Amino acid sequence: MFQNILLATDGSKYATYAAEAVLGLVKEFQNKDREIILLHVSDTPPTRSQLMQADLDVQSVLREKAGKAVASTEQKFAEADVAYTLEVALGDPADGIVDFAKTNDIDLIIIGSRGLGAVGSVLLGSVSRRVAHEAPCPVMIVK
Ligand SMILES: Nc1ncnc2c1ncn2[C@@H]1O[C@H](COP(=O)(O)OP(=O)(O)O)[C@@H](O)[C@H]1O
Ligand SMILES: [Mg+2]
Repeated sequence: MFQNILLATDGSKYATYAAEAVLGLVKEFQNKDREIILLHVSDTPPTRSQLMQADLDVQSVLREKAGKAVASTEQKFAEADVAYTLEVALGDPADGIVDFAKTNDIDLIIIGSRGLGAVGSVLLGSVSRRVAHEAPCPVMIVK
């Protein structure tokens, strides 16, 4: 998928960061120690009945909800035989993604440009825009 990579540069310090990122990516993707984490943030708290059914285990309710949201992604990873860890969080999705990246030493966030709320010709969804602004690390926004 990433065979022909274009690095657009104007010689500025930010273009130099981009150049370093390209070199880093090329190395990272050959790196057998790399870890891939799928994160889904649920923005609706578990209902009382969901909690009762799960013996008050919030994590297991979140995992079940995340399971539905990420099922097709998990299938793609399984078919490609690429190992990953699934993580779940509760709260505002942008906050959850940024906090997770901060507390887990994440080096790169890859995110879609739009999501389930996609409407019209808006370029960036609110989650991708906020993550791009607030992330502690590089963010690749996939169109
Ligand atoms: N709840 C969430 N948990 C994890 N990632 C999310 C969540 N919501 C959105 N994202 C990520 O942010 C990207 C952009 O989505 P978003 O900004 O919500 O756009 P939209 O406004 O079109 O829904 C998605 O493609 C996905 O990668
Ligand atoms: Mg959305």
